[in-house]
Amino acid sequence: MNLKDKRVLITGATGGIGYALCLSLVEAGCNLILVGRNRQKIEQLIEQLPKTSNYLYIEADLSRAEGIELIHQECQQLIKEGINIDVVINNAGSNTFDYLTQRTAKSIEQEIALNLTAPILLSKYALSWLSPKGFIVNIGSTFAGIGYPGYATYCATKAGLHRFTEAMQRELSDNDQQLIFIAPRATDTELNDQRVMKLNKALGNATDQPQYVAQQVLLALQSEKKITWIGWPEKLFVRINQLFPSLVTSSIYKQKNTIAKHLKRANNI
Ligand SMILES: NC(=O)c1ccc[n+]([C@@H]2O[C@H](COP(=O)([O-])OP(=O)(O)OC[C@H]3O[C@@H](n4cnc5c(N)ncnc54)[C@H](OP(=O)(O)O)[C@@H]3O)[C@@H](O)[C@H]2O)c1
Repeated sequence: MNLKDKRVLITGATGGIGYALCLSLVEAGCNLILVGRNRQKIEQLIEQLPKTSNYLYIEADLSRAEGIELIHQECQQLIKEGINIDVVINNAGSNTFDYLTQRTAKSIEQEIALNLTAPILLSKYALSWLSPKGFIVNIGSTFAGIGYPGYATYCATKAGLHRFTEAMQRELSDNDQQLIFIAPRATDTELNDQRVMKLNKALGNATDQPQYVAQQVLLALQSEKKITWIGWPEKLFVRINQLFPSLVTSSIYKQKNTIAKHLKRANNI
């Protein structure tokens, strides 16, 4: 896809990867529809972005069905006004690094709603107003391909998003609208608190800058690449986990004390 003059709707625009994506998309000549749950934050974001593009925004809480319906209605209205929407990027997401037994039912439900239900519902609606050759980009995670202690719910949501994208790619195989899945590894944003940063350092895990992730998303869109796993050796581990999961289990088992040490700090136990 040639991104010049395309209109891109992006969720989680105010976050670390979201901001980097906005900058890269504007540089590629796109106009943006920014989705965020906090109007003040979106207005601040627009002030920071280059004035060369045209920005629209929608204030919506994606963890609630009403938030997604509002985006649907606003997009239908834009189409009536002659504004095409060529790309939707399901980027908003959250996680909580903790053992499942320590988490509240509410926080688990909200994580699933934001990371999995929201992109599925937004994709369903978007397919009715997206340009005929438009793309939906789902931002996943390495944890879509590897179940990891402390991230059970997050892994479930991202694995679900991966399978959803794959199923839709097959469902739409005769259609010009398509879906793309991109799985970043650890990235330097506020999603990861100090404990996670320290854990990654202790385990020797590389961390990417959000600008790098944004470039990979643009490359995937430009080349219409259906699935991208970012980072080496993470993409190899994902493949080994599919073929020989017990090898990855024993490798993660060796990390369990380090993981527990960082989680204990959080739970103060
Ligand atoms: N950082 C990583 O290590 C990493 C690795 C792999 C994948 N990812 C994925 O990359 C995506 C972006 O993450 P990030 O690192 O940029 O995280 P981030 O900096 O924490 O940004 C998260 C974004 O999601 C928005 N958001 C959160 N809850 C929302 C809700 N209920 N309704 C609407 N928007 C909501 C936030 O809005 P507010 O500004 O209002 O809070 C923010 O814009 C996520 O899908 C994440 O899972 C991240």
